[in-house]
Amino acid sequence: MSSKPQGTDTRIAPANLDAEEFRTAGHRLVDSLADFFSSLPERPITRADSPQVARELIGTEGLPEHGTDAGALLDEVTRILTAHSLHNGHPRFLGYITSSAAPLGALADLLAASINANVVKWDLSPIASEIEAQTVRWLAELTGFPTDCGGLMVSGGNLANIIAFMTARTAQAAWDVRARGLHAEPRQLTVYASKQTHTWIEKAADVTGIGTDAIRWIDTDTDQRIDIDALERCVDADVAAGCLPFMIVGTAGNVSTGAVDSLPDIAAVCAKRSLWFHVDGAYGAPAAALPEASPELKALALADSIALDPHKWLYAPIEAACVLVRNPETLPNAFCFQPEYYSVEAIASDGAPGNNYYELGLQNTRGFRALKVWLGLRHVGRSGYVQMIRDDIALAQQIYRLAEAHPELEACTQHLSITTFRYRPAGYSGRNATDDDYLNKLNRQLLTKLQTGGDIYVSNAIIGGRYYLRTCVVNFRTTAADIEALPEIVVAAGRHLDSRLRPTRP
Ligand SMILES: Cc1ncc(COP(=O)(O)O)c(C=O)c1O
Repeated sequence: MSSKPQGTDTRIAPANLDAEEFRTAGHRLVDSLADFFSSLPERPITRADSPQVARELIGTEGLPEHGTDAGALLDEVTRILTAHSLHNGHPRFLGYITSSAAPLGALADLLAASINANVVKWDLSPIASEIEAQTVRWLAELTGFPTDCGGLMVSGGNLANIIAFMTARTAQAAWDVRARGLHAEPRQLTVYASKQTHTWIEKAADVTGIGTDAIRWIDTDTDQRIDIDALERCVDADVAAGCLPFMIVGTAGNVSTGAVDSLPDIAAVCAKRSLWFHVDGAYGAPAAALPEASPELKALALADSIALDPHKWLYAPIEAACVLVRNPETLPNAFCFQPEYYSVEAIASDGAPGNNYYELGLQNTRGFRALKVWLGLRHVGRSGYVQMIRDDIALAQQIYRLAEAHPELEACTQHLSITTFRYRPAGYSGRNATDDDYLNKLNRQLLTKLQTGGDIYVSNAIIGGRYYLRTCVVNFRTTAADIEALPEIVVAAGRHLDSRLRPTRP
């Protein structure tokens, strides 16, 4: 009796595409995407489709029993996605910290997926692992961090910060916290961060079991930067109360206004008390590459760990983030377990052994995220990024000047490439609570109108209890003309809303 499974001599697998099918479908897709990229400025940023419309577009039938031709499928879904997505690559997309993605990154993702490297373990992905290691070194070099650091690519800023948090926890706990857990030590581990810190820190405190009550939310000054005196007082009070402070977080470009904490001062507080100094540079770290960057920002080089997101200000397609640690040993110390199903015989090497990335972070199977970042760095070089980031900042500063000059706009803050301002119609000074109540309501509704209008996309920030519109330029497609157009689009929509909402005054 033959032991061969039937029909596998010349196997026809439904998932496979032969070379010709792949070539034809791929060429058509790339042609469509080239047209998509060049037509972005003429497209609405969003059609603001309802969930119902989106569901109808993809169909509500159950799981297909039988397949469909790959080329036809790609044509169909390309049409839907290019017409109905929210286009964060549009030159007038200025909302959140989501960049225009470099087209080369899209091709890099295609290449990475085609090779399908599993960057879990060096021998499964030799070149990819080395490209990731070089990417980490280059990102360190770009931001002024020591290049003999450790690091790895992760999915986003949240994960990069959480990895750093876990690394700090293990490095700073005086006992084996990985084996014995937090309850082995009665003293509470505590962490310090400004009230402007992104919500990743709550997730980190939660998933590590440290608990969100252990986060000390430090006040900020009028520029939304951590108050260093308050920080020191809080650490000292915790020590006196028997807590175990382990980490201070500085933010290099906070999510609301882009303000950069005084990183040299935080570094000094950490050095004095032997605390881990972490910098959330998810957004702002790449701006440290600018020769004219402030000393406050450049001091991220003093950190024990940094989170930085190439999918934000290095224009890599989502997802691409990176965590850097000053002492490379701290990553395996925090994450390495040696399962028996992985042989870890070192491959003979003249230099340092290659990384087994499963030992350095949370993921086991890992994609080749580094490729798009590495290719981006090779494609435009340091000077290319410096130029693009500098242009983004200059355009953001222009938004501030335009808002300042417009009689119906009130400029509020400008840091890195984030600007905040609000619509303030004639008759409202914004200097009393009644005015502010109305301006908050008006600007809140204005945001919805702008976000669904398709002409320009902005987001919001709450500063001192007031509701502001917020632009973030991390977009190499944005030009001065787009910025010049912004005030009139905002003011026209604001006037329209004001005419409907304005309360009759006594
Ligand atoms: C300062 C900061 N940290 C962390 C994050 C989270 O990054 P991600 O959305 O990539 O997880 C953001 C997102 O905007 C951010 O601005």
